[in-house]
Amino acid sequence: MPDLLVTGGAGFIGANFVHYWLREHHASRVVVLDALTYAGNLANLDAVRGDARFTFVHGDICTEGLAAGLLRDHALDTIVHFAAESHVDRSILGPDAFLRANITGTHELLKAARQVWLDEGRMPVERVRFHHVSTDEVYGSLGFDDPPFTETTPYAPNSPYSASKAASDHLVRAYHHTYGLPVTTSNCSNNYGPWHFPEKLIPLLIVNVLDGRTIPVYGDGRNVRDWLYVEDHARAIDAILGRGRVGEVYNVGGRAEAANIDIVRRVCALVDDRLRADAALRARFPQSPAATGGDATSLITFVADRPGHDRRYAIAPDKLAAETGWAPRETLATGLARTVDWYLAQEPWWRGIMDGSYRDWITTHYATRERVG
Ligand SMILES: NC(=O)c1ccc[n+]([C@@H]2O[C@H](COP(=O)([O-])OP(=O)(O)OC[C@H]3O[C@@H](n4cnc5c(N)ncnc54)[C@H](O)[C@@H]3O)[C@@H](O)[C@H]2O)c1
Repeated sequence: MPDLLVTGGAGFIGANFVHYWLREHHASRVVVLDALTYAGNLANLDAVRGDARFTFVHGDICTEGLAAGLLRDHALDTIVHFAAESHVDRSILGPDAFLRANITGTHELLKAARQVWLDEGRMPVERVRFHHVSTDEVYGSLGFDDPPFTETTPYAPNSPYSASKAASDHLVRAYHHTYGLPVTTSNCSNNYGPWHFPEKLIPLLIVNVLDGRTIPVYGDGRNVRDWLYVEDHARAIDAILGRGRVGEVYNVGGRAEAANIDIVRRVCALVDDRLRADAALRARFPQSPAATGGDATSLITFVADRPGHDRRYAIAPDKLAAETGWAPRETLATGLARTVDWYLAQEPWWRGIMDGSYRDWITTHYATRERVG
């Protein structure tokens, strides 16, 4: 059973992965390395912090020698690399942090893996694996009638975020081809689910509807994304570690394409339904339109589009399905319902974030955007 270094494990997907992994793999140890940036939150790991198989290390993946020391000291044979600056809007406002974390950071981890696993030979090479978590955004944007991205779609990143992820993907590939490091890469679509930081579309929608705040929708809302429930993503990485071929890239998608405005309307309807059915929820969220007989869609405000906003992403997870048997378990309907119910049950978690510095950032950010409708 592999023992894992999970980078970025206090972030959204990383934390979900750690919970999933420790639940599914009882004999496995997990060391999380996370810098606890604004997006990292130790509360995401509360449920596993007492587990003897789990260790948290507060540190930066860019720090030379840090990851190598962890691989040695904890005798780890697998890296699952999530740590990144991940928000496209922030990459437009300030690209430097993205190049540092996503490119330099990934390179430091690759160097550590090469040094400890290959040069020092501390692990049988057939046992080790560097799994790199990347994004479908490296493939650029699709027209509405184009076929979905596959693993052979040429790279065409359009934002500083996706360009930095593309660079990291190339480094991972190069370390395999040049040094023989056993690597796999997954490029996934938009994740959603528990512990999702409320600057991203779906959690932002839920908390704004509950508090009766405006729902900002970019442009005409017709931008299309494929949505992947985060636990399906965790199972996909598990499948790749167990049954994926070394040196290969796997696309991971939820087979759930939807326009942003459709996601907005679905979430509005779900929150309205929950409140209409439950007086206690109406009392807890008196600002939400449904608490006073209204409709959450009344909060929708169209705002000026994000610069260079990709029109459509769609991803074909056919290779992953054929080689490992993986398939998403959640549909958009079941995944969104689970997500809304999680946010209703975990109000202290998201209140803690909304009451902190994040509120200042989002207020300034959206206040500077021109309203178009
Ligand atoms: N969220 C999505 O929909 C999505 C889609 C495709 C790909 N991805 C990729 O999945 C990975 C995880 O995404 P997420 O949404 O969970 O991100 P996130 O922003 O929620 O979490 C990132 C985590 O990385 C940590 N981190 C950032 N810089 C670090 C550094 N220099 N050293 C150590 N830790 C650092 C942060 O503290 C945080 O805990 C990223 O690589 C991202 O590019 C995400």
